[in-house]
Amino acid sequence: MNPHLSRRQVLTSALAASAAATLPAFAAAPGPSLNDLAKATGRRFGSCVGTGRPGTLTGSFADPAYRDLLAAECGLLVAENEMKWGALRPSADVFTFDRAERLLAFAKEKNLAFRGHTLLWHHVKWLPDWLNSHNFGSDPVKGVEKMLTDHVAMVAGSYKDRITSWDVVNEAVDADTGLMRETAFTRHVPAEKVLDIAFHKAREVLPQGQLVYNDYMSWEPGHAKHRDGVLRLLEGFAKRGTPVDALGVQSHIMVVDGGPKYEEAAWKRFIDEVVGMGYSLLITEFDVNDKGLPSDIAARDKGVADYARAYLDMMLSYKQTGDVLAWGMVNKYSWLQGFTPRADKQKQRCCPYDDAFQPTPLRDAIAASLRGAVKYG
Ligand code: XIL
Repeated sequence: MNPHLSRRQVLTSALAASAAATLPAFAAAPGPSLNDLAKATGRRFGSCVGTGRPGTLTGSFADPAYRDLLAAECGLLVAENEMKWGALRPSADVFTFDRAERLLAFAKEKNLAFRGHTLLWHHVKWLPDWLNSHNFGSDPVKGVEKMLTDHVAMVAGSYKDRITSWDVVNEAVDADTGLMRETAFTRHVPAEKVLDIAFHKAREVLPQGQLVYNDYMSWEPGHAKHRDGVLRLLEGFAKRGTPVDALGVQSHIMVVDGGPKYEEAAWKRFIDEVVGMGYSLLITEFDVNDKGLPSDIAARDKGVADYARAYLDMMLSYKQTGDVLAWGMVNKYSWLQGFTPRADKQKQRCCPYDDAFQPTPLRDAIAASLRGAVKYG
């Protein structure tokens, strides 16, 4: 015993050491992984992962147990933030790929595929400040086109051997109005044209790639305008011959206050129209917001699992629905903890694993829906 330490100090440091030794680890459950189950019907299962500071919501990659979990359950990964404009382009002329590269290196080491998210998050709130106030020069129409095509060529081009499915455009439809969002680009070029430029360039870079329009229209009440706006946008793409292969259905589903409410028939009509136009579907960012469920954990987990099951069963009854990705695998790393905290201040139980890296009933629900899925394609 170090004679300079009091008994109390020795005890505290011993406790700290044993706490470090018992940090949650991940041990894969026996039986097929979620990706194994997805593979059986021609799909892949995956998750986002983030390279934020250790201990933060976006710091999942820094946690070795999380990395083990990804390697065990997933067939593909997507960067939570690392391929967005804000992360890749600190200014107009500088690209920083280092955080994205760390994720790609891990995926390669574990033999996991990678999706791209996103070449254009067409939403002022999520574009860098420098871009929102950018001066596009004396010929701003050309300036906008150059900025967009340079970006797509640089980002999609840099990864063209590794990433073949991209959310080319994200969230271009205003959820409240169903109209197109305005950004720095649309000051000079109409929104549809901005999107077309991005998709055409992406097709040039990835002739065989899967080009996706991704958005968060959903089946809960209050989404009708958003769904209609997305339909109009997809119709426009089809009419103009814009190269868009699939609709990414983000699937941030939510148990609303007062318990689950969802417009099943309207949602089915929406999905039917989308596939009727020839688009395929992906579930790109699945999680379950449990704000409408009670505090009790067992009841909440059951509510989340039942709600997820109803949703995934419907989505996976479509042969057009391909890959399924969760927006995070462990509750404590979910963006929902910060984005929509619960009124009772408890953590959202939104992911298939709890903070001790134990599977929750949501994991069983996802597995059951994947087992019952129709074959993709
Ligand atoms: C979220 C990330 O999870 C957060 O860390 C970040 O602060 C904001 O973006 N729709 C999307 C994702 O397309 O990119 C968002 O990710 C979640 C909603």
